[in-house]
Amino acid sequence: MKRFLLTELPVKNKTIFLRVDYNVPFSDGKITDNTKIKASLPTIKYLLQNDCKIVIATHFGRPKGFSKEFSVAPLAKELQRLLPNKKVIPLPDCFGKKVLETIKNGKSQTIFMLENLRFYSEEEKNDSFFAHSLASLADLYVNDAFGVAHRKHASVCAITEFLPSAAGLLLETEIRSLSQALHPERPSVWIMGGAKLDKIALLRLALEKYDYVLIGGALAFTFLKAKSIPVGVSKTDSAFIEVANKILKSKYSHKIVLPVDFAVAESFSPRAKVSLVDYNHLQPHQVGLDLGPKTVALFIRYLSSAKTVVWNGPLGYIEWTKFAVSTKEIGRFLGKLEHAVTIAGGGETAEALIKYHLHHHLTHVSTGGGAALEFLAGKELPALESLENNYKRFRKRLK
Ligand code: 3PG
Repeated sequence: MKRFLLTELPVKNKTIFLRVDYNVPFSDGKITDNTKIKASLPTIKYLLQNDCKIVIATHFGRPKGFSKEFSVAPLAKELQRLLPNKKVIPLPDCFGKKVLETIKNGKSQTIFMLENLRFYSEEEKNDSFFAHSLASLADLYVNDAFGVAHRKHASVCAITEFLPSAAGLLLETEIRSLSQALHPERPSVWIMGGAKLDKIALLRLALEKYDYVLIGGALAFTFLKAKSIPVGVSKTDSAFIEVANKILKSKYSHKIVLPVDFAVAESFSPRAKVSLVDYNHLQPHQVGLDLGPKTVALFIRYLSSAKTVVWNGPLGYIEWTKFAVSTKEIGRFLGKLEHAVTIAGGGETAEALIKYHLHHHLTHVSTGGGAALEFLAGKELPALESLENNYKRFRKRLK
């Protein structure tokens, strides 16, 4: 299926509605990680080089109606800091006469930023009327918001009914990189960790397409429990035990690599005493919070010859640094794999890699959380479907 590339749209001197995902981590009034904003710069710079006016739109958090707390003002400020020679003008709303006039009267190469799209419930309802109001602010639409590609929202989907639309440079990079994960070169290894255990579709795909699936995080304890191995008070998901059981009895069981040791705490507290134990020696009161060194060595043996590696989910409880050891070691090792494509996806995974400065060493770290997981699980993303439909509708008119 085809969609317009940014370079195929006649953007010169035009006003562009640019949907981005600036839903960045934020605490105490500060952006704690600006990766998503930086990732949108190539598209913004391309549009500026083409003398465009850019109307940037994003969601930020999950507000219930208007609230100062969720204003995009700090995001506009950060973008201004990253582009000191350009003008970034925050607008007080998402549409309306004043917004329209300000944009109309603005000079080329000016960047405007609309207020939080989610201040309007119509955004999440994929409302056509709302989408039309947004579309009327610009000549063309560019989607660079991979993080919301799995959401059927007005600024992602319905808006493409009104304007010729293209995927931005970040969106194209995400799709190209994550597609490599769907067509892995062998030997291929999938590392699956994390605390959330709702990964059945992903696990199924990994088992079908990959040679080995290395299991870490809380998922490991669910698998051990399915094998009737005591896991102390470690986190498990009772709803998933049945699935784990089926997998262990399936034709794919030889692909599953489970941990052989853990770092365990005497209680769930950052000050609790930590010890290393083999996988089958956890005491009833102990909680497993990281993989042990024997498991790291085992995982590295599988990873050494891999040509494609996908990583989803931290391997330990990385919120406490002392349980981030295996995540850091595996991250560092992946950075040394010169001949492998290494791809990390899922919000927590990217967060962990950025926190420990490991993201530069991988081939691709996705800016998408849920969107990356859905793409990797083989699901169609509404944003891409909309861009493809848009291509069908506008391809003759643009020629
Ligand atoms: C993200 O941060 O994963 C994206 O911005 C999507 O946010 P949402 O889950 O609130 O739709």
